[in-house]
Amino acid sequence: MPRFSPQPQKGFTDYFPDVLRVHRYVEERLRRSAELFGYEEYDGPIMEPLEIYAAKSGEELVREQAYVVKDKGGRELALRPEMTPSLARMIAQVQKSATRPIRWYSVPTCFRYERPQRGRVREFGQANVDILGPDSSDAELEIFSLIRNFMESLGADGKLYRIRYSSRRYLDALLEHVLGVPADRTVEVRKMIDRRDKMEAAAFEKWVREIFPEGAIAERVLGLGPFAHPAAPPVADVPAAFRESAGYRELVEFTGKVEAVGLGGVAVFDPTIVRGLDYYTGLVYEVHDVGTENRRALFGGGRYDNLLELFSNEPMTGTGFGMGILTVKLFLETYGLLPAGVGKPDRAGALYVACASAGEREYAFEVASAVRRDGIACEVDLDFQKLGRQLGRADGKGYARVVILGEAEAKARTVMLKTLATGQQETVSLADLPAKLKDESRGL
Ligand code: HAM
Repeated sequence: MPRFSPQPQKGFTDYFPDVLRVHRYVEERLRRSAELFGYEEYDGPIMEPLEIYAAKSGEELVREQAYVVKDKGGRELALRPEMTPSLARMIAQVQKSATRPIRWYSVPTCFRYERPQRGRVREFGQANVDILGPDSSDAELEIFSLIRNFMESLGADGKLYRIRYSSRRYLDALLEHVLGVPADRTVEVRKMIDRRDKMEAAAFEKWVREIFPEGAIAERVLGLGPFAHPAAPPVADVPAAFRESAGYRELVEFTGKVEAVGLGGVAVFDPTIVRGLDYYTGLVYEVHDVGTENRRALFGGGRYDNLLELFSNEPMTGTGFGMGILTVKLFLETYGLLPAGVGKPDRAGALYVACASAGEREYAFEVASAVRRDGIACEVDLDFQKLGRQLGRADGKGYARVVILGEAEAKARTVMLKTLATGQQETVSLADLPAKLKDESRGL
């Protein structure tokens, strides 16, 4: 008989109950925030034709990261590396009938063949929140407010993270009018800027100089440092053509709105935010830890004007984000924000049934059924011997209350209800037990 490794595949996760509970905690908070803003949950297939990612998501995702499966009909399917193309496909089916804006969220499992590292694995939960229909950047304002609401619900105030945003259209205008990059090469430079913080500075410089042997452009690209407001790039004269561009006007206006609705401290302009996916056309954004522990983005998102055209003749714009459950969990751990006991089941209101002997087995099942019928969680110790050990197990599992059943209780149809913390115990009739447990839980 071969013996196999009990470990999962590299980059895949075994969700043991204590691990799963923490993930569910993050997920539930996200669901709650999304629902508070009127978003409805959807889900889609776990596999899609590979070509829908190849069309607009990007080379890296498809060539390097996709898990590809060939089905028996010879079709190439990918385990979904992201949700947005599936979302666009589903929206195309209901586009005509759905009331706009369409506000949808989902918490799919996604798959990417990436090098496993802190916050990056090969199978991951990624919450997605998207709003489709409105052209206006009010949609992004709403998404940013939702992010803040979610982070607040986890106890993270605005000092611990930043929503960093920029815009593809703005960056293209900046490259063309301020840095003098020819219009047909802006996409290439955008990609370079996106990869900048993933590369060593020297390697980045070499790469830029190779691509722009003409020198002057390379100097300007390399010299572009951070700046704080989209209206103030660090150049002597801001060309009029730049100020008149749609990208500039939109982003400056958006920055004003961000301030006006009080998101200013949390959401900041950052010209280095480009994002890797090809389908983004306008505002793009990421959420980052302000500290150095979690370097990769916790969330990434943006505006996609043309993704629907893959599936529909009617254009429809959308914006939204994907958020790694794992990355947020790591962030919460970094700042000690996971509530104590979040990995443990909450058994404060539940009941444990212990029996003095196997003779009470039937009665034990009856008691358990009676309280469960009233919605009270209840576990029966199946050992039916050694009461002390049964009580120890109840305590170890976090039960606050135990009923002890012996011959006398079975005969009288009562239970001995014990509160483990105080050691107090009293006889209660089976008929009164559910109501009594509920009353006491209210006081717990
Ligand atoms: P993305 O930037 O590729 O965007 O992923 C968004 C987030 O998913 C990342 O910031 C990270 O938290 C999480 N994530 C990505 N890859 C991994 C991984 N290998 N392990 C763990 N977490 C990961 C998208 O996927 C877009 N479809 C998001 C979007 C929705 N855009 C518009 N709507």
